[in-house]
Amino acid sequence: MPKRSFPEGFIWGSATAALQIEGATQEDGRGDSHWDAFCREHPERIYERETPDIACDHYHRWTEDVQHMRECGHNGYRMSIAWPRILPDGRGAMNPKGLAFYDRLFDALCTADIQPNVTLYHWDLPQALALEGGWENPDTAMAFADYAESCFRAFGDRVKHWSTFNEPGWSLLNGYVTALHPPAKHDYPAAVLASWNMLRGHAMAVERYRALRQGGAIGLVLNMSTVYPATDSAEDLAAANLADGLLNRWFIDPALLGRFPKDAWNLYERCGLLPVMATEDLERLQRETVDFIGVNYYNPHYASANAPTTVFGLNNSGNQEEACQFSIEGLFKFVKNPNGRYTDWAWEIFPEGLYALLMRAHAYRPGLPIYVTENGIGLKDEILPDGTVDDQVRIDFVREHLEVIHRAIQDGANVRGYYMWSLLDNFSWINGFKKRYGFFYVDRTTLKRIPKCSAAWFRDIAQKNGLD
Ligand code: BG6
Repeated sequence: MPKRSFPEGFIWGSATAALQIEGATQEDGRGDSHWDAFCREHPERIYERETPDIACDHYHRWTEDVQHMRECGHNGYRMSIAWPRILPDGRGAMNPKGLAFYDRLFDALCTADIQPNVTLYHWDLPQALALEGGWENPDTAMAFADYAESCFRAFGDRVKHWSTFNEPGWSLLNGYVTALHPPAKHDYPAAVLASWNMLRGHAMAVERYRALRQGGAIGLVLNMSTVYPATDSAEDLAAANLADGLLNRWFIDPALLGRFPKDAWNLYERCGLLPVMATEDLERLQRETVDFIGVNYYNPHYASANAPTTVFGLNNSGNQEEACQFSIEGLFKFVKNPNGRYTDWAWEIFPEGLYALLMRAHAYRPGLPIYVTENGIGLKDEILPDGTVDDQVRIDFVREHLEVIHRAIQDGANVRGYYMWSLLDNFSWINGFKKRYGFFYVDRTTLKRIPKCSAAWFRDIAQKNGLD
């Protein structure tokens, strides 16, 4: 018996996203996503001008990748479906070759006893919809619900865990506030409007899923970075609370409680940012709360009220000298923890933040099924002369986070699974390919997969269903 056993049936897996691993972006009828267009139009914004065109070539190597999951002891796998592969124009005619790809993949996963946990939207909005206003356009919510229903009907016999969106808060923050991701605007009204349309689409998709009675569960994946005040001052405490309201509670409250948090609502109302919300949509949101929550956790944040300017910048090169800046004038600024342990990309390693999040999700609704849908560390992994990849740092990172998950379970949180980010080194958005996250090293020339030390380590834990 391992020293720390996990509940029976606990899911041990890894997570990926379609745009980050599939490649084959121009193949078999797939349409463009706004990320494909963004990388083409602004190559300078992606580290080393990389693109998702080839990524890990998973589209052609998926059989081998399912085999790698087995080698890693997986009984679960979190992935996303590429909306533009199913519906090249975002709506209308379906692409039979796109459907066939996922059909074969789900069959193979089920044969290998690996439960798929599928996210419908991991940031790859069809470019055709982006050109019509993307998430600012209310019709996108309906197009999303139609796309979701097509996926439920096609794959719902094998997929029993669905999530509507991956990290709506951070994807909108990057799309409309920091402007680091498409549509790359600095536009607060558009950000709030887009968040409302995503939440509308989310509730519509949940309603469609329930109407089909397929006997599975549907949830939402959030990156609820714990926000701590930078100091004990009342101002910083208020700044941390505000950041938490805008980034976390604006999404988790509607998803779990069916209503918006008062403080963020009041702020948006005061600033004239609140969109017109139809009663029918509000009622649907209230009715269609989720069956589970997916928690993505990488690092905590520290908010200071001292935010005299608006400035954003990310270290996307892995060069520690490169400063990270995140400040919204008059609201809050994120600052570094002087005592923190940081990665080369300036992300703090702080497992206790995950414990706090899990207990927080539990407090929202005791007994709520929770999955850690992403957790991992980006490193500059290298192949050693003997052909191995020693990623002890990743092993330590994952172990420390599993320890706090175990403690949260002991303390009552119903955590049902852990998906390490990621199965493969992949297209890390604006970080290109230098930031490696996988259990498997992907050689950028040959695309060969090489298991890192963490892969065998994880298999042992999964097989024992616990940590020593
Ligand atoms: C999560 C995303 O926010 O963080 C993943 O869901 C992403 O898609 C991961 O890759 C790590 O972020 P990054 O920017 O380092 O790749």
